[in-house]
Amino acid sequence: MKVLAIISQKGGTGKTTLALNLAVASELSGNPAAVFDLDPQASSMSWKDNRPDESPAVVSLHSARITHYLDTARQSGAKLVIFDTAPHSQKDALEAAQASDLILIPCKPSLIDLRAISSSVKIAQLAGKPAVAILTQTQTRGSLTDEAVEAIKSYEVSIAPVTIGNRMAFIHAFTAGRGVLEIEPQSKAGEEITSLFSFITNLMENKDNDAKAKPSRSAA
Ligand SMILES: Nc1ncnc2c1ncn2[C@@H]1O[C@H](COP(=O)(O)OP(=O)(O)O)[C@@H](O)[C@H]1O
Ligand SMILES: [Mg+2]
Repeated sequence: MKVLAIISQKGGTGKTTLALNLAVASELSGNPAAVFDLDPQASSMSWKDNRPDESPAVVSLHSARITHYLDTARQSGAKLVIFDTAPHSQKDALEAAQASDLILIPCKPSLIDLRAISSSVKIAQLAGKPAVAILTQTQTRGSLTDEAVEAIKSYEVSIAPVTIGNRMAFIHAFTAGRGVLEIEPQSKAGEEITSLFSFITNLMENKDNDAKAKPSRSAA
């Protein structure tokens, strides 16, 4: 079983959106997934409430219960556990990071969001775990994404070779309790999630590999 923590000390960067869509991608690839929702706002739980399917499992838990729930997930046959974390809770984020194989740091291409990367990178370093930043809600026009990639290079963190665009499919899917791969598998949003899932799966399965990824942009 692999464990992924999605961490950013900023709200609205796309943590929940990525956690749920990656969990659905894992299920569709035949690997049962569970989302551990550490955010008191419980957005992942409300997605699950709207979802007609039993899987993926989504549980809301306190960080003190992480070990217990990981054991339960392992015994239930989960192949991937994803922590959806809260902003502004460094202690919970650190506990999730320590229990994970990989940390994903979503970040919008704005100055405020880029600055928030450094505290997430520090959490990954404290936990001694590999971390990858990913640009989310990018616009197809303009040079903001390229500038953001340049800015991320100044932090000690790799950048995922895929970006997640600002796309309505993510919003529609969330409202329906679905992943974009279930409602619009051929869409750009679907392609992005497939690429990201494949990227993080490879990283987690080849832990000894150098996680450094060359920054690049997916097709708009
Ligand atoms: N790639 C995206 N394209 C469009 N809207 C998005 C995207 N990612 C997130 N959103 C929207 O932005 C808001 C915040 O996203 P969310 O995943 O809840 O962030 P976080 O969990 O980091 O607070 C939500 O309304 C969500 O639907
Ligand atoms: Mg959230």
